[in-house]
Amino acid sequence: MNLKPEKLSLATFPTPIHHCSNGVDIKLDSMSGCEMSGNKIRKLEFLLQDALNKKSTIILTTGGSGSNHCRATAVAAKRLGLKSLLLLRSTESESKKIDGNLFISTLVGAKIEFITRKEYQIRNELLAKRAKELEQEGEVPYIIPEGGSNALGSWGYSSCFEEILKQRENLQMYNKIIVPTGSVGTVAGLVVGVNLSGTKNCEIIGVPVCDNSEYFSKRLENVIQDFNQLYGTEVNTKCARFVDGYIGEGYSVPYQPAMEQIKILAQTEGIILDHCYTGKAWNALVSLIEKGELDPQSDKILFIHTGGIFSVFPYKDLYL
Ligand SMILES: Cc1ncc(COP(=O)(O)O)c(C=O)c1O
Repeated sequence: MNLKPEKLSLATFPTPIHHCSNGVDIKLDSMSGCEMSGNKIRKLEFLLQDALNKKSTIILTTGGSGSNHCRATAVAAKRLGLKSLLLLRSTESESKKIDGNLFISTLVGAKIEFITRKEYQIRNELLAKRAKELEQEGEVPYIIPEGGSNALGSWGYSSCFEEILKQRENLQMYNKIIVPTGSVGTVAGLVVGVNLSGTKNCEIIGVPVCDNSEYFSKRLENVIQDFNQLYGTEVNTKCARFVDGYIGEGYSVPYQPAMEQIKILAQTEGIILDHCYTGKAWNALVSLIEKGELDPQSDKILFIHTGGIFSVFPYKDLYL
């Protein structure tokens, strides 16, 4: 039985896999597109199809002021002839820095409303409140939660896992897949992919870029529980784990060891990571190899480059 819902085709798949000189492979989801590049577009293909099915006229979502997810949503909505409203968590000075992802979201005409850190804690209520107001104005709103990380969005990285299986058809499958974790949807999707394909011995390792393992383990359980309820599956989260200790001072705050690894990867492989997500996750991978917890000789390791190129430019002084 095919459980997978229909989806839009908004990106360029399959994304290529690059073989690094250190024995690790990198799947370049950074090349899933240009304006819509990165991991979010995989989830949005399913979520925006659902929005169209429901005859929605405006997409509401939320994230940080430099959110990749909000930028990809704003661009994709515009391509589909839909409006978008972004509730962006920001400080006074961040809201004035129209650069990177915020610049692109602004350029494509997304309606942007800045909210405080405190308001962000009740973001789901705020989204629901704005949706109600828009309904009264005659719009048909469709809410996408932070990061597109819900049961439906999980099909995005479940499909990515299928894509990886195909790319490894006559080769040994990866037994370790490492990704950054910000709202858990990427890990959740990969976990669904492992379960639905019946793949054995493949561990999904999420590197939190905010909060911690305990928080994300719970959030993962919730998404998978919703998924099982919605699709009648028995997906479990046994194949997933999170590793702590690689955030530095906080979310999106540049972390020196990660900045050094970003430079090394750029100069050895020509691959550009960002300071907020992929740089911190790659630094974790390098550190786990150094500690002997992962071994590119005996493990088959895949790192997924989940995008984020637009947040490099506003902070370029920190990279050099
Ligand atoms: C570039 C990038 N990588 C990774 C992540 C984390 O993915 P997820 O939110 O699915 O955990 C995000 C967004 O949060 C992102 O923008």
